[in-house]
Amino acid sequence: MKMNNYSFVVFSIFLVLLHVSCISCAERQVYIVYLGEHSGTKTFQEIEDIHHSYLQSVKGSKEEAKKCIIYSYKNVINGFSALLYPEEAEMIADMDGVISVFRSHPRNNRLHTTRSWDFINLLEADWDPTQVNGEGFLTSAGYGKDVIVGVLDSGVWPESASFSDEGMDPVPASWNGTCVEGVAFNSSHCNRKLIGARYYLKGYEANFGPINQTNDLPSPRDIYGHGTHTSSTIGGRRVDNAAAVGGFGNGTASGGAPLVRLAIYKVCWLVPGQIPAEGNTCLDDDVLAAFDDAIADGVQVISASLGKSVAVPYYEDGVAIGALHAAKRDIVVVCSAGNSGPSTSTVTNVAPWILTVGASSIDRVFSSPLVIGNGMVLEGQSVTPFQKGTYPLVYAGDVEIPGTTTDTSTGLCGNGTLSPSLVKGRAVFCWRGDTLATLEVQRAGGVATVLGNSFDGIGVIGRPYLIPGTVILSNETAGLLNYTESQLNPSATLIPARTLIGTAPAPFVASFSSRGPNLIEPNILKPDITAPGLNILAAWSEAASPLNVPSDNRVAKFQIDSGTSMSCPHVSAAAALLKAIHPDWSSAAIRSALMTTAKVTNNLGNEITDSLGDPASPFDYGSGHIQPSKAVDPGLVYDASYTDYLLFLCNNRSNTFDRDFTCPQDVPSPSNLNYPSLAISNLINIGSLSVTRSVTNVGTQNSSYSLILNTPPGYVIEISPQTLNFSSLGEKQSFSITVTAGTNASEFAYAYGSYSWSDGIHLVTSPIMLSLA
Ligand SMILES: *[C@@H]1O[C@H](CO)[C@@H](O)[C@H](O)[C@H]1NC(C)=O
Ligand SMILES: *[C@@H]1O[C@H](CO)[C@@H](O)[C@H](O)[C@H]1NC(C)=O
Ligand SMILES: *[C@@H]1O[C@H](CO)[C@@H](O)[C@H](O)[C@H]1NC(C)=O
Ligand SMILES: *[C@@H]1O[C@H](CO)[C@@H](O)[C@H](O)[C@H]1NC(C)=O
Ligand SMILES: *[C@@H]1O[C@H](CO)[C@@H](O)[C@H](O)[C@H]1NC(C)=O
Ligand SMILES: *[C@@H]1O[C@H](CO)[C@@H](O)[C@H](O)[C@H]1NC(C)=O
Ligand SMILES: *[C@@H]1O[C@H](CO)[C@@H](O)[C@H](O)[C@H]1NC(C)=O
Repeated sequence: MKMNNYSFVVFSIFLVLLHVSCISCAERQVYIVYLGEHSGTKTFQEIEDIHHSYLQSVKGSKEEAKKCIIYSYKNVINGFSALLYPEEAEMIADMDGVISVFRSHPRNNRLHTTRSWDFINLLEADWDPTQVNGEGFLTSAGYGKDVIVGVLDSGVWPESASFSDEGMDPVPASWNGTCVEGVAFNSSHCNRKLIGARYYLKGYEANFGPINQTNDLPSPRDIYGHGTHTSSTIGGRRVDNAAAVGGFGNGTASGGAPLVRLAIYKVCWLVPGQIPAEGNTCLDDDVLAAFDDAIADGVQVISASLGKSVAVPYYEDGVAIGALHAAKRDIVVVCSAGNSGPSTSTVTNVAPWILTVGASSIDRVFSSPLVIGNGMVLEGQSVTPFQKGTYPLVYAGDVEIPGTTTDTSTGLCGNGTLSPSLVKGRAVFCWRGDTLATLEVQRAGGVATVLGNSFDGIGVIGRPYLIPGTVILSNETAGLLNYTESQLNPSATLIPARTLIGTAPAPFVASFSSRGPNLIEPNILKPDITAPGLNILAAWSEAASPLNVPSDNRVAKFQIDSGTSMSCPHVSAAAALLKAIHPDWSSAAIRSALMTTAKVTNNLGNEITDSLGDPASPFDYGSGHIQPSKAVDPGLVYDASYTDYLLFLCNNRSNTFDRDFTCPQDVPSPSNLNYPSLAISNLINIGSLSVTRSVTNVGTQNSSYSLILNTPPGYVIEISPQTLNFSSLGEKQSFSITVTAGTNASEFAYAYGSYSWSDGIHLVTSPIMLSLA
């Protein structure tokens, strides 16, 4: 079935949904009241009654309480969301059994697609199934056929060939989920590939009012594209002759685990009054409801390419809370790190029970140079289809309508800034920008766009713009400005893009990828890992145009997109395959295997850099770039249990997340969590710190590992013992790490290094990140 925007409009006319509103609550805001976990002895009715009783005690009457409750979480997570005044929220926070009360803020979580939407083709680098290793890995994992992955995103386009269930086995007996019907989505849209689908709208509607069905649909159907992209990245079937608009990225598209089962949880919606390219929101109370269902439904991996723009404390973060309940059941939770790089301290989803993924490049470039009038060739990249053409060139800053820009906004091609009489028939050079800049050039009558680039370096985000256009590399931008400003009649020739494969350096860290340090707990290194997230091909919603703007009427079955949203599902797929091969591994063991086998070198054999060519550090890539086929046999793993996380949380806050757990008198340092990386901050005050780590043998029965230490400059590290001997599988060995600041430790900078255990076959590596501050 093919569905376009027009048919949605028709649907919306006939389906007027009744919206029950809480009129007396209109001035109030949505809060989440978190109560921990259900003991399993109460009925749903009893749970609801208890939730109502909290509300009744501040609202006065049971009727009022019932009117203002939004969600009552009943499966696993205990808590509810409701419309409350701040004073009422404070009163509830003081009541017995309440762990935390926090706002479900409408601008809190967003999908981590950036200034780009990408798509993923796993037939690359270490994923290439034509490589013996890759195919062997996929085969031994049964291509993921027994594993269920829950995807929290913007829904799914079920008609995509990526979600065909042709030849797939019956749905695993462990599956407890369901296919919820909605507008333009019925139970026959689920199949043996898409085994479940649900949507969560109550929190959204409590904030924004009834959803506008012209723009989004109350159903699991994806009209945005993002959820289709991420889920097909994880588990899309092989589709031959897949390509984005203009034929870019053509070839066989495949998810990382092509036979994995997908369960769709739609939690992200368009923001009223904004075009899709501008915004979306995923309310914490909707997200928490999705976690509660996904856990009860029986998913084994949860992939969430969404998060906050700034990290918040764990007990006020719906993603972190939901993920903790999942981790307790050894469900692997994989999240995107965010797209707020390259600034430091921007990483989100920083809980240690989450696998946090940054974005890096692949070795493919869509090269589209610009030849300027003096014959010079400037390097550029583009996935916009166009014919070669030569145009008179103007710099946006010279053709603006007076008064529409300031010193800081000049040259950016902002909406309504360009003068049609000066732009008509010309190519416009915008100092930097994205989709909206190209639309402004088009609006003003420009015929082509050249986008400058201030800090993306060689990591250019490609989009299929509506007029000819290319994005030049950062190092060419000043030269182009000088050229346009110094010539009487500047001109430029745009050259259609050629696809280059095997480009170097690759991978490098994408500039948008959010960076450490971790603002919530500097003693846990985040992000954990990087994976491909720049210009990735995957399936797309046919109701979403490639640019996600109303003036784009094109329909795309596949799309090239960028963001940590695109790297997260690569790791989710890898986690699903590991789960298939090692069903007995804990979620921490799977995370450890992926992290300790990641690589920190690029295809030139040098240390991974950022997109400007500067050295990158564990704050950019965590343990490094994912190597899934190596993670199958990591040798040793750093395991951690739910109890370990609770002990870790004792540092964070005196009252714990779990009433059955009592924090000890002497709380160990957060650095002591048995994590596959090591971060220690504040060494200026503590001087020295010893932590204990424990590794479990999952490699060779009789083995002996020796230490390789790469000490961060300015510090002294002692690890003892320096040899670990194992005589059985599953055996654990502990060692201590003592870190002392030397007199030459830099007061302001972070210092990093690594330690590894090697038995000659396996190399089990952990990054170390230290700071005096
Ligand atoms: C579900 O929708 C499809 C396509 O719109 C339609 O062909 C089919 O009959 C519907 N199935 C049910 C069970 O309503
Ligand atoms: C719904 O969105 C459409 C398109 O953006 C707009 O024209 C219409 O006024 C909106 N309807 C409501 C009730 O806001
Ligand atoms: C992609 O398209 C180009 C240009 O048409 C063609 O040369 C190339 O063989 C195609 N690649 C694949 C894998 O189909
Ligand atoms: C699925 O449902 C069955 C029966 O209600 C239950 O025993 C099982 O624990 C459920 N699975 C999960 C993952 O909750
Ligand atoms: C540009 O501004 C105009 C007028 O305010 C508005 O109607 C239009 O939607 C804006 N375009 C975009 C792409 O935001
Ligand atoms: C900019 O960088 C690219 C890629 O490294 C290189 O090919 C090009 O020559 C550089 N341009 C300038 C002006 O240095
Ligand atoms: C700017 O352009 C002028 C004229 O083409 C040229 O002589 C000069 O070297 C350029 N300056 C820089 C910094 O590129």
